[in-house]
Amino acid sequence: MKNKLVSLSLLLILSVSACQPLMQLPESTPDLASAYMDASLPAEERAADLLARMSLDEKIGQMTQVEKNAIQPGDVTRYYIGSILSGGGGYPSSDNSPEGWAKMVDGFQSAALETPLAIPLIYGVDAVHGHSNLKGATIFPHNIGLGAANDPELVEKIGRATAEEMRATGIPWNFAPVLAVVRDVRWGRTYEAYGENTELVTNLGIAYQNGLQAAGEGDSLFVLATPKHFIGDGGTVWGTSTTENYMLDQGDTQMDEARLRELFLPPYQAAVQAGAQSVMISYSSWNGVKLHGHKYLITDVLKGELGFEGFVVSDWAGIDQVDKDYYTAVVTAINAGVDMNMVPQGYQRYLAVMKQAVENGDIPMARIDDAVLRILTVKFKLGLFEKPFSDSALLETVGSETHRALAREAVAKSLVLLQNDNAALPVPKDTPLIYVAGILANDLGAQCGGWTIEWQGKSGNLTTGTTILDAIEATATGEVRFNRFGKFDSEQKADIAIVVVGETPYAEGRGDNENPSLSENDIELINRVREQAEKVIVVLISGRPVVITEALPVTDAFVAAWLPGTEGQGVADVLFGDRPFSGKLPFTWPRTAGQLPFDFTNLPAAGCDAPLFPYGYGLDTTSSEPLNLPVCP
Ligand code: GLC
Repeated sequence: MKNKLVSLSLLLILSVSACQPLMQLPESTPDLASAYMDASLPAEERAADLLARMSLDEKIGQMTQVEKNAIQPGDVTRYYIGSILSGGGGYPSSDNSPEGWAKMVDGFQSAALETPLAIPLIYGVDAVHGHSNLKGATIFPHNIGLGAANDPELVEKIGRATAEEMRATGIPWNFAPVLAVVRDVRWGRTYEAYGENTELVTNLGIAYQNGLQAAGEGDSLFVLATPKHFIGDGGTVWGTSTTENYMLDQGDTQMDEARLRELFLPPYQAAVQAGAQSVMISYSSWNGVKLHGHKYLITDVLKGELGFEGFVVSDWAGIDQVDKDYYTAVVTAINAGVDMNMVPQGYQRYLAVMKQAVENGDIPMARIDDAVLRILTVKFKLGLFEKPFSDSALLETVGSETHRALAREAVAKSLVLLQNDNAALPVPKDTPLIYVAGILANDLGAQCGGWTIEWQGKSGNLTTGTTILDAIEATATGEVRFNRFGKFDSEQKADIAIVVVGETPYAEGRGDNENPSLSENDIELINRVREQAEKVIVVLISGRPVVITEALPVTDAFVAAWLPGTEGQGVADVLFGDRPFSGKLPFTWPRTAGQLPFDFTNLPAAGCDAPLFPYGYGLDTTSSEPLNLPVCP
């Protein structure tokens, strides 16, 4: 019955849209002598020539981005659609391989090139820690780990490697980096950010953007970066979100303009100066006004004051949140300066509303022309008119040893040593008996986190990689025993136990958590293993600092590993001393959840009201002084 209902409603929509002046199917082929077809001309000149040849329908089509499951290639041609995206988990349902992706993306592109003016579409994806929806791709540490590593050169290489694996599948546009400066780690998107510090976020965000765009405009390896989410997405107040049961994500950032500029604007200023050509708008609000409808911030500040000449793209159905009346929402957002709408489903309604709004004079044609000119200019700069399709020569880069070695290095540099009593670390490789406990020790999905294959990520063996257990077994030369429950049923005490605990995957507001703490099960697991080993080392898998205070007294060493991705060997490299601990905390670490959100303007330096560990804290392997933490109620 449900399917029948759906098909009836679909028929209704189509019949309604058929009442509109039906988009004429394209007839002609492009005039190859046109100026816009001349690759020797500047992008701006080609775009202006092309714009002058376009109908209103063709212009509106360029301002429309549709999710790949919500449209057939034939309708990409019919409605002159300018962009398609794969959202989180948007892999080709029949074949999640590089070849399968390339076939899907090239298929949509072929349809776009059948339009009269043969304007190529631009395909976008969230390759936020590698081409992370693609099975077999190299999955790098999420940005929180890169913030701990704080190595701009490494991050630039990661951007470049990601660009190669993306272009192998025909995708020239990455909805990354996140430039959020995160002020409350209870946010489910904390791990997508580099840290709490504006300068750290700026330095690493630009490094990543430079890596993606390293090949230079027009090169087939150039991938368009998208600094996001403009602006203040990491500064919202708990309980102000109006989306689903979210508490922080998509909430309201409440502060004066001076503080908003001080905390959140520098990364975007740097991104624009470094050549950003697309920026994504935040779902969040500033003092009660949705960013998607904020003309002052989008047009006056981003485009005017910062001189941003690329195009602004909405977030997923972000425009819909601007007003309960859809027509008003669209008019407000487009007039505020949004150039492309990530609709991403029900695009015919958007097309019809846009046409109506222009004919009513509610959206000036000058605004349409400005948006389309921005979009076309970027497409010309990307070289899409000359090289619109995937490059099969790059297929071998996907999940390559070179990229995995880079990811392994990033993992090693991201680990932060929080405690190292009794010289528990490094672990001698010839330790006679090592116990490994905790399901997360053998869970590739958990160590990758959200935005991996699926939007929310998922536990288990979801792609190709090395778990932490695999890595320990490959490195230790003595006996290694694994039990997920920490029950080793042996009279024999292990010399060393490594217990892996932490968070299971989540993304966006579904990860908002008022009490980010080790679970009771994890505490019990650590205590159980404590009785069965001479020394206990805990490795924490998490997308943020979590409250671990209760566990520290019963452990010898404690390591924050964040969300390392597919290359778990990088964890063993440091645990066993092949590489030093060098990571430093990119976030202040709470002693209790009650301390959140921190008042960064008044953080006690010591005592029970102080954070457990300050921003920038991290031991190296040689330091093994006991942590003299105060005993607090
Ligand atoms: C999501 C996210 C955004 C992402 C977009 C497309 O809701 O907010 O970061 O780029 O949708 O997947």
